Amino acid sequence: MKGIILAGGNGTRLYPMTLGVSKQLLPVGGKPLIYYPLSTLMSAGIRDILIISTPSDLPRFQSVFGSGESFGLSLSYAAQAQPHGIAEAFIIAREFICEEPVTLILGDNVFFGDGLSQRIQAVIEEQPVSGATVFGSRVDHPERFGVLGFEGNTVISVTEKPEFPASKYAVTGLYLFDSKVVGYAKTLMPSARGELEITDLLTRYLEQHMLQVELLSLGNAWFDTGTQDSLSEADRFITALQQQQGICVGCIEEIALRNRWINIDMIREKIKDYPSNVYIDYLRSLVVEGLRVE
Ligand code: TTP
Repeated sequence: MKGIILAGGNGTRLYPMTLGVSKQLLPVGGKPLIYYPLSTLMSAGIRDILIISTPSDLPRFQSVFGSGESFGLSLSYAAQAQPHGIAEAFIIAREFICEEPVTLILGDNVFFGDGLSQRIQAVIEEQPVSGATVFGSRVDHPERFGVLGFEGNTVISVTEKPEFPASKYAVTGLYLFDSKVVGYAKTLMPSARGELEITDLLTRYLEQHMLQVELLSLGNAWFDTGTQDSLSEADRFITALQQQQGICVGCIEEIALRNRWINIDMIREKIKDYPSNVYIDYLRSLVVEGLRVE
């Protein structure tokens, strides 16, 4: 399974914070926002990952992650000239996808919860040769999101920001697709707002009875950090968890270590010249004490 992080966009709802910095590089819980979607993919065992961003922001992501080797990853990068919609990611990534299934995660989505990565891993393993899976989350204001409509347990509709939502379940920014996604994306027409819409793509799969839905457990947290409020909420949530439990959420070195993609010496070497701070001290504790057993 390959992975894509879509980390472009204009971030207009976060102006002026996003005038000089990509939304996905803004700090949340003491690290750049993109660490969280990256850690979600890594926890699910995905290590061949394409980061898509704007032509101006792409070099910044390259300087943060490089080839990905120090995190046990194979990273590649591609530019989206204009934010022409989430579904355009599959056209940009067509050569990267190359007949394989792919997981797409939005660069501003933060997922947290016990058992979540095992759940994603299980879906990846079960993912039929053909089809798509979306992850749905219960939200208080579904009208702000793409909303799932159900008949019993079967999903029958996906509607973008509906006036009258069919359910309380929003489509999160985490999707699994078979390799047909590239062909479907190429047939999409831009919507009224000029974008290739992910909901239109999902509807293609729905029409073929090839769309599955996984609902996040009620204890799982999902933040779409597109607004000042949701960005602050995610920051407060992650910071409180880290302080209360002495953990580091979204620590990509730790996940790479757990997955046995890197070893302790690689972390020791990486941090040796850094002064103390919360993140570096956490990495030092891994070097000194090793991984915690849970
Ligand atoms: P949005 O929050 O829908 O768009 P945005 O980031 O441009 O923000 P705003 O609406 O405030 O201007 O995007 C969701 C995620 O998808 C975010 O991580 C950016 C990414 N994205 C792209 O990379 N390219 C695109 O064409 C679109 C629409 C979104």
